[in-house]
Amino acid sequence: DAADKGEYRHYMLKEIYEQPQVIRNVLEGRIHHGHVLEQVFGSDASAVFDQVKAVQIVACGTSYNAGVVARYWIEKLVGIPCMVEVASEFRYRKTVCMPGTLFITLSQSGETADTLSALREAKEQDYVAFLSICNVAGSSLVRESDLAIMTNAGPEIGVASTKAFTSQLVVLMLTTLVLGRRYGLEGEADFVAQLEQLAGLTEQVLTLDSQIQKMAEHFVDKHHALFLGRGTIYPVAVEGALKLKEISYIHAEAYPAGELKHGPLALVDEDMPVVAVAPNNSLLEKLQANLEEVRARGGKLFLFADSKAQVKPGDDLELITLPDVPTVMAPIIYSIPLQLLAYYVAVLKGTDVDQPRNLAKSVTVE
Ligand code: G6P
Repeated sequence: DAADKGEYRHYMLKEIYEQPQVIRNVLEGRIHHGHVLEQVFGSDASAVFDQVKAVQIVACGTSYNAGVVARYWIEKLVGIPCMVEVASEFRYRKTVCMPGTLFITLSQSGETADTLSALREAKEQDYVAFLSICNVAGSSLVRESDLAIMTNAGPEIGVASTKAFTSQLVVLMLTTLVLGRRYGLEGEADFVAQLEQLAGLTEQVLTLDSQIQKMAEHFVDKHHALFLGRGTIYPVAVEGALKLKEISYIHAEAYPAGELKHGPLALVDEDMPVVAVAPNNSLLEKLQANLEEVRARGGKLFLFADSKAQVKPGDDLELITLPDVPTVMAPIIYSIPLQLLAYYVAVLKGTDVDQPRNLAKSVTVE
């Protein structure tokens, strides 16, 4: 029962822990024998997808961060342009629609005022079709779109979005695969197999709970934190920083790792923890030089990486080792420890985790 916290102290923790089941629910009825069923997007989805030459994603908040992950996926795996924009910007500027563009709104609630207005504005232009990826069937966004696919995360009560985000990512991967097959993407069955492993991997990551809880103690007396990631993990770092801001009220910023030297490094000292999310070694190697810079300034680094990471934990480096995950699926798995980190920092600070000050679950007015 969604309205019942059960054994959990907060809805947010309950919703974090629901993620393995949510991922199974997202995939249920959407894949068959290594193949994504495209009719689940709508009865004329196939004819629409046949025309797609580019994608425009519009969303707000956490949903926007999921959209940024999808841009990396769509451009890499489908090979067509994908643009992502926050709805409040998109709706108020003059935008140019490239022929053959599919317009996607991403939203947990389906009622966010800016996203809905952006959709209505976009209808004045020549988009191929409007697809809503949403957690609420019958919501305004779903009703006003040509195609829709539900994220099936179940009701999310904590204001800080967790399971809605991971479920959006899974649906965005399904979307990537149905578009990809039109552009010669090989190995769909392998990607589907990787999707099927996600719930189990999520369960493994959740066993890191007590380690992350311990790590959270380092953040309680801090006023700022920096999150670093690269590629698909950059938006994951942004989402991790957003979670920390929303519920612990610690100012957190995320940077693409390569930008550290172009400014934020000036801020790093013993009062500025740096969270680096680096699921694979190629990023880690690039990060090494940055890590030295952070250390030299007395900064402490909190690293989320896999077992291949060639780093030695010490006074200036805490490491949380995640299971090895297929690279393309890493953003889904690596979001989870960052949700737990924000959660435990907030609990230690004694904030109202499920109802953070000044924020609303669904922003239906401008
Ligand atoms: C609010 C919520 C966020 C959410 C954003 C977009 O700011 O607090 O958690 O990401 O709205 O909401 P949507 O329902 O459109 O995903």
